[in-house]
Amino acid sequence: MKTYLVTGAAGFIGANFVKYMLKKYQDIKIVILDSLTYAGNLGTIKEEINDDRVEFVKGDIKNRELVENIFYRHNVDYLVNFAAESHVDRSIENPQIFLETNILGTQNLLDVAKVHWMLGKDEGGYLIYKDGVKYLQVSTDEVYGSLSKDYEEAIDLLLEDEEVKQVVKDRVNLKTYGDNFFTEETPIDPRSPYSSSKASADMIVMAYAETYKMPINITRCSNNYGPYHFPEKLIPLIIKNILSGKKLPVYGDGKNVRDWLYVEDHAKAIDMVVNNGRLGEVYNVGGFNEEQNINIVKLTIDTIAKIMKEEPEYQKVLKTDLSNINYDLITFVKDRLGHDMRYAIDPTKIATELGWYPETNFEVGIEKTIRWYLDNQDWVEEVASGDYQKYYKQMYEN
Ligand code: NAD
Ligand code: TYD
Repeated sequence: MKTYLVTGAAGFIGANFVKYMLKKYQDIKIVILDSLTYAGNLGTIKEEINDDRVEFVKGDIKNRELVENIFYRHNVDYLVNFAAESHVDRSIENPQIFLETNILGTQNLLDVAKVHWMLGKDEGGYLIYKDGVKYLQVSTDEVYGSLSKDYEEAIDLLLEDEEVKQVVKDRVNLKTYGDNFFTEETPIDPRSPYSSSKASADMIVMAYAETYKMPINITRCSNNYGPYHFPEKLIPLIIKNILSGKKLPVYGDGKNVRDWLYVEDHAKAIDMVVNNGRLGEVYNVGGFNEEQNINIVKLTIDTIAKIMKEEPEYQKVLKTDLSNINYDLITFVKDRLGHDMRYAIDPTKIATELGWYPETNFEVGIEKTIRWYLDNQDWVEEVASGDYQKYYKQMYEN
């Protein structure tokens, strides 16, 4: 039986990962470490923490004593680090906590794992570790900076690798807004306080791999979407606002491009990298789905309006008249400072080495996501109380 220490699993992606793993593997132990910041909610993992295979520990990844205690009590095989401050807009307002959690927290986890996993030293003085252990750092495509946008409209994806094209051809619409992509060889070039802190964390992870020969992987994924996404990020914020007839704040001209990845496909990728990734390697994880923000917003409006008309029982969640759900809700607001223009991932490496591809077409994924929010308004109400109201006012009502 493998034991996973999963940090940040009361948040969006970590929670989805834990749900995926518990469903997939019967014989598994998961220890969750999460300090429950504004972005972490026990309601997101309420079924999981009652599962005998799960232990929940409330605490900070920077707390050495606490992390050591977990390692003393459990035979941790894999440490998967999702815990982070994750929102670019918040990092622009208050960078310091991003450096503390994302950099120092990562280093603390690495250091405790090193001490507990090492068996001794080889002749060259390098550390030797227990068999089969691994540290996986969940990073982001944002560490690569920003790509140019060469096309106004999406056209077929210009992937060079025919094999990869073939793998995904029948499953996804291949879309791009440019002819350059992030690969694992793309130089790190972060531009926001958030992405700089994540890039710094990646470098610390690589430093532990080089200096102490720590068994590690790094995954760098594109923008995730799906259930349990905190409504400060674009898609859940737009869904929430549409349902209450509030304005939809689109930064700048709305033409910035993100590559959207359904969160369950990401969970699957992490499982594959933990279990089969080559030690020391970075794997990029992308959705093959680039889209301009404005088109995401329009598609979300169209999909909600369609569901409401075809299944009128859903209208009970509306806090506005159905006739208000149209493009008039869109409001262009002041652009984000240093707003990255385009992210796009070439996932050839993970597709060819590990056989991973994003299974969920965007049209299918966005409808699943919207339906989840319609069915789980209690969750939205719960997470969007307190701090969220204050944040929203500060961010959007000036
Ligand atoms: P999230 O903000 O929803 O969740 C983060 C979780 O970490 C929360 O549960 C929070 O309570 C916890 N946390 C924060 N600081 C902590 C600390 N000091 N100690 C312990 N726990 C702490 O984030 P997410 O969207 O689920 O992202 C997870 C990871 O994936 C992050 O590392 C993020 O950088 C990365 N990532 C996210 C996206 C995305 O689209 N959401 C894309 C690329 C990479
Ligand atoms: P976001 O979901 O914050 O993710 P990230 O900044 O990590 O990509 O934002 C996605 C895109 O949507 C980004 O280009 C900024 C834009 N955006 C808006 O236009 N309005 C909003 O209210 C938010 C939160 C984001």
